Amino acid sequence: MVKLYHKELLSASGFFGEICYNIPMKDLVSIHDLSRQEVSDILDLTAKIKAEPLNSERLKGKSLALIFEKPSNRTRVSFEVGMFQLGGHAVSLSAEISKREAIEDVGKTLSRYVSGIMLRTFEHDKVVRLAHASSVPVINGLSDLEHPCQALADVFTIREWQGRAGKSKEGQGMKVAYIGDGNNVCHSLMLACAKTGLNLFIATPKGYEPAAEFMDKEGQITVVNDPVIAAKDADVIYTDVWTSMGQEQQRKSKNAKFKGFQINAELVKLAKPDYIFMHCLPAHRGEEVTDEVIDSKNSVVFDQAENRLHVQKAILCLLLGGNK
Ligand code: CP
Ligand code: NVA
Repeated sequence: MVKLYHKELLSASGFFGEICYNIPMKDLVSIHDLSRQEVSDILDLTAKIKAEPLNSERLKGKSLALIFEKPSNRTRVSFEVGMFQLGGHAVSLSAEISKREAIEDVGKTLSRYVSGIMLRTFEHDKVVRLAHASSVPVINGLSDLEHPCQALADVFTIREWQGRAGKSKEGQGMKVAYIGDGNNVCHSLMLACAKTGLNLFIATPKGYEPAAEFMDKEGQITVVNDPVIAAKDADVIYTDVWTSMGQEQQRKSKNAKFKGFQINAELVKLAKPDYIFMHCLPAHRGEEVTDEVIDSKNSVVFDQAENRLHVQKAILCLLLGGNK
């Protein structure tokens, strides 16, 4: 059984000020929690689960509480359907639940009823606090800082494509270009690429670079302010919305600042001919990506969306005990 590690993020000095390594924990709050081996184990279990019949009894009798403080299509449905396919049960709770009482009390109460809790919220710190208070595993279903389940599905999708395209499994020489906002999706992708040996080039407008804490020392990550440098000879071109949930009031000003960072036919000409286009979705078509690119034969966005289901089933099995 793979152990998932969780770093102490509740430091007064910042997100990663006090780091305790190798404390066996039960949660997936950040990709930082996982060693290279653990990421590899999750990807291997995902491949196994994806090849199995959809329905199993791996998590028979287990239940998962889902709390969404922001909207969701992929995360909500893949967790609900994933639990059902594993023989377990998901309970979806409204966002109001964590407004009525302290998140710690929510976690302590839910721990008496369910086998795991997933939270999608704004402040990353809230997921950390929930994980500390709960005696059952807590999964980050997206915070303002990270989207770990997405990043694991992303590297799984890249690995799957490498296999199909006959490219090296370790990803040596592969160039992944993330062009857009240095946001939650970018942060988790940085950590996931570092842990799977993928070279990541990030291009953002000045002032929208990812947080320095995510420059994982294990990884080969380059941050630039020129999309052309990132796109040149890329194997993978990835983008996300310029305006994340909760930032809607900035949409007009961000659209102006990110104008040259759109993934369009002209930019993707710089990538390798067999490049793949990735996006965590939902997309703001016509902003960060044109229809022509997202609907092209190079686009794997719906494989990526499907893989959220398979990867999350693997994560759930590892955390809730159905990985045998
Ligand atoms: N990619 C992703 O997390 O999608 P949802 O917001 O629809 O869950
Ligand atoms: N960066 C986006 C990702 C959505 C899946 C957001 O936080 O809204």
